[in-house]
Amino acid sequence: MTQRTAAALAATEPIHFPDYVNHAKARDWIAQVIALCKPANVHFVDGSDEENARLCDEMVASGMLIKLDSALRPNSYLARSHPSDVARMEDRTFVCSRERDDAGPNNNWVDPVQMKATLTRLFDGCMRGRTMYVIAFSMGPLGSHIAHIGIEITDSPYVVVNMRIMTRMGRAVWEVLGAGGEFVPALHSVGRPLKPGEKDDLWPNNPDKYIVQFPEEKSIWSFGSGYGGNALLGKKCFALRIASVLAREQGWLAEHMLILGLESPQGEKTYVAAAFPSACGKTNLAMLIPPKAFGGWKATTVGEDIAWIKPGKDGRFYAINPEAGYFGVAPGTSYSTNPNAMDTLKANVIFTNVALTPEGDVWWEGMTKTAPAKLIDWQGKEWTPASGRPAAHPNARFTVPASQCPSIDSNWENPDGVPISAFIFGGRRSTGVPLVVEAFNWNYGVYMAATMGSETTAATTGKVGVVRRDPFAMLPFCGYHMGDYFNHWLQMGHVVENPPKVFCVNWFRLDQDGNFLWPGFGENMRVLKWIVERVNGRVGAKESPLGWMPRYEDIEWTGLEGVTRAQFSELMSVDAKLWQEELQAHAELFDKLKSRLPRQLVLKRELFGMSLWH
Ligand code: OXD
Ligand code: MN
Repeated sequence: MTQRTAAALAATEPIHFPDYVNHAKARDWIAQVIALCKPANVHFVDGSDEENARLCDEMVASGMLIKLDSALRPNSYLARSHPSDVARMEDRTFVCSRERDDAGPNNNWVDPVQMKATLTRLFDGCMRGRTMYVIAFSMGPLGSHIAHIGIEITDSPYVVVNMRIMTRMGRAVWEVLGAGGEFVPALHSVGRPLKPGEKDDLWPNNPDKYIVQFPEEKSIWSFGSGYGGNALLGKKCFALRIASVLAREQGWLAEHMLILGLESPQGEKTYVAAAFPSACGKTNLAMLIPPKAFGGWKATTVGEDIAWIKPGKDGRFYAINPEAGYFGVAPGTSYSTNPNAMDTLKANVIFTNVALTPEGDVWWEGMTKTAPAKLIDWQGKEWTPASGRPAAHPNARFTVPASQCPSIDSNWENPDGVPISAFIFGGRRSTGVPLVVEAFNWNYGVYMAATMGSETTAATTGKVGVVRRDPFAMLPFCGYHMGDYFNHWLQMGHVVENPPKVFCVNWFRLDQDGNFLWPGFGENMRVLKWIVERVNGRVGAKESPLGWMPRYEDIEWTGLEGVTRAQFSELMSVDAKLWQEELQAHAELFDKLKSRLPRQLVLKRELFGMSLWH
């Protein structure tokens, strides 16, 4: 339903709410936003197919979307963003708690009163000449007791059609919200008001960008960017930054984790949740296909980015994937790295910043061994393999419904979630960190996850191989002080009777000549099988200073040539000198967080030190 409001009269015009929008607090907030942003129209998004088709058609007509060839990529589109608006912007992301120390050194902070003043000035009139869309969305299956509702107000139709894939949204959500349900208000604008008759940009945005979370108020304001996590506010802003605050207050976990089901040939299902920083193959692991030699084992996908995990009545943790779609990185995805992702992408996809083929299909680096002879690159320029620049942006994305994934788990929409038996933490480490270690107990596991590091890649920083500490892979996503977050994790080990076992993995160790020691991809199933069998108490391990480790004979090797006993011991070796340096880096991290760091972790560090020296 679209309502016309004369821009200048926005504050006084009556607002025609659809009858299903009968939540007084939501109505008040929407009215305030209309008065502030002064849009030309207001549209309450109902989530229907017709509405989606109309918005896509409008964007094709305006040039914001390109329709791909209907035979090659049915019902799919390509968007090209402005070259200055291509990724999450950590330096423009703020957590504005009342007290600076509550946001911690892991977040940018500005006093909330001052930030509200800045934002109010920026949002004043920012939607002039545009339609304001009101989207009610559910993070998690509609009505699930683990799910939470948000309302995003945006002036970007691109955001609307992406939110339709990434969340459950529209009229049905208003019905669940009812007259008094809880919701997180999330306000977004591209920050580019239009003068009467002015032609719009292909990718409107504003050089001044702010992605702001107010943790006490549980609200989100995002200005100036139309891209990904900056604009699809259900994802990183709500499902991680705000949800991590809610989770701490309410006794649950909101984590940057994939959720994977592993089913044995006997039909026994074990679910694991795994955290990896960006560029560590998280989507590949979430959609892994076990090697043929693993006759009968199946891997199924519940989620590939975020997990909300709540204690269940039976003393276990239960997890849902709060999202309904994947907003994944395209470059590097191929039939050899991730066949399930490639099959997921056959239809109904919005691609952003990939290259366009002459046939009207898409291409990105790594999709095929040889690049097509001619393409239009992500900036709309002609491209050939001799152009000397990437055809797709390294952070080019696909937005696609999770339901299309061939490995989707039968329980992925179960409102009660799936029981988690193991937490896995991993980073990209070329030296020192073994292939897999099982923590001695929950608190050791928390220590290992808290001190996790990962090497940066060319795609992320330009500097390769610098180890960045990324505790729990949550550094850019924790909505409060990381020291308090560690403490919350330590406490959560006591709220369930059977806390999951904790493991650390590293697929990226190199030999002296710079070759990967571990083949990775589907072969990671060999490590996962050991993890599942440890959880179910069916396989051995040996003790090491870092925790329990598999012996060569504890891993299933059938069908894998090439990892010899000698290579395996290299993969598993713990070099005391390297670990002294590692513990030094842990001390530096702890020093930064010292005002809120749990003493438990300081003691664990000392214990690790002692076991390594002796
Ligand atoms: C993502 C990220 O885009 O973690 O999911 O950076
Ligand atoms: Mn992520």
